Amino acid sequence: MDFKKARGFQDFFEEDCLKFDNTLSELFKILKRFDFSRVEPPLLEDTNLFKRTLGSESDIVSKEMYSLQKGKENFTLRPEGTASIARMLVTQNNYRQLPLRWFYYGPMFRHERPQKGRFRQFHQLGIESLGDSQTETDVEILSMAWLIVKKFNLKSHVFLEINSLGKKEERDQYKKQFQKYLFPFKNKLSKDSQIRLNKNPLRIWDSKEEEDQDILKKAPLLIENLDSSSLQRYSEIKNLLKDLKIPFKEKPQLVRGLDYYNDLVFEWTSSQLGSQSALIAGGRYDTLVEQLGGIQTPAVGWALGLERLNLLCPAVKKPTLQIALISSGEGTQKAYKLAYQLRSEGYSVYYRFSGNFSKQMKRASSKCLWFLIYGQKEQKQESIILKNLKTKKQVSLALSDLSQELNKRLNSLDTC
Ligand code: HAM
Repeated sequence: MDFKKARGFQDFFEEDCLKFDNTLSELFKILKRFDFSRVEPPLLEDTNLFKRTLGSESDIVSKEMYSLQKGKENFTLRPEGTASIARMLVTQNNYRQLPLRWFYYGPMFRHERPQKGRFRQFHQLGIESLGDSQTETDVEILSMAWLIVKKFNLKSHVFLEINSLGKKEERDQYKKQFQKYLFPFKNKLSKDSQIRLNKNPLRIWDSKEEEDQDILKKAPLLIENLDSSSLQRYSEIKNLLKDLKIPFKEKPQLVRGLDYYNDLVFEWTSSQLGSQSALIAGGRYDTLVEQLGGIQTPAVGWALGLERLNLLCPAVKKPTLQIALISSGEGTQKAYKLAYQLRSEGYSVYYRFSGNFSKQMKRASSKCLWFLIYGQKEQKQESIILKNLKTKKQVSLALSDLSQELNKRLNSLDTC
């Protein structure tokens, strides 16, 4: 039988996992500086949660969800984390703890067309600040993303683009005006945009089709239709960004593909990621919690795609082990017991049952600095050779002195 990996799903081998672990540990350090606490919603949620919050006409809900039916219930593998976070807050029903700062990390699932940087299973690190409405909060979470961009040396090709979507009433009014402008061009629009024209006209701004771009050049912009309070809020954010010297560009065409946003929306994009250029993206969503039956809770957040960040980062070196225990075929039992003893004392040990002496030495030499040579002669004499591979110096020790000697030269990781 010929088993193939599902399209858009990836196997992670050691070098991939090392990169993920390394990237995450750096990211967690930055999140800690901002006092965000980790939470983890389940992978599976009631399908209606996503239908109701992301928008029935969004790409995710209309064509990308992995859903399954169990009895009378319909579940969906989470395509993103924000809806689940809002749901968690409502389910927990403890609003006294607000404001909250939560982050989550894990796989998300979207049935998209796979390409560079776009997978059907991908990993997001998401942060959500719940309960704060100040513009300083918007800029605080942007400043966190900026520290990430700097930490990973991405400053030369990752840029921040921002826009304001204002309030729902402003968007509703704008949609009518936008549709009115587009209707005369209906037949010239791309197929996708023709469908969106009635159902979700704002998304037409996301189109990359040339025929749409031409028509959009003269279209009215949402930002031109916001009232003074929305514009004031947006202007405060821009000033705060300038104050922190975080470079940004205004992009009035930026609308984002999810329905829950209001006011600030943003994307950090990289010119090195090809067409899937968004690395970190998010915005404010002040009505989502209420929409799910909770109390009115202002909120803002973003999510970062780990696969995309890893595409921009160099490979990570394999960590070394502390000791290589080299033994010959006979007397394996003694060597295997010794390996167990060393590991219980807290050392990381390279030890393999197979391979002759020189093969074992060769394999271990890239992994360890210290070698313990435990050949037949040593085993008979209850001794062992300790060799430093760098200095090439070696000493022969009584086996009973080994723990003491290692203690002097190496740091045990942990004992058990
Ligand atoms: P999003 O823009 O759909 O937003 O996704 C955020 C990030 O996830 C993207 O910028 C990208 O790095 C990564 N990503 C998305 N789809 C894929 C894919 N198919 N393959 C690889 N990476 C991908 C959200 O999900 C919102 N929940 C963000 C948010 C949090 N807004 C407020 N809080």
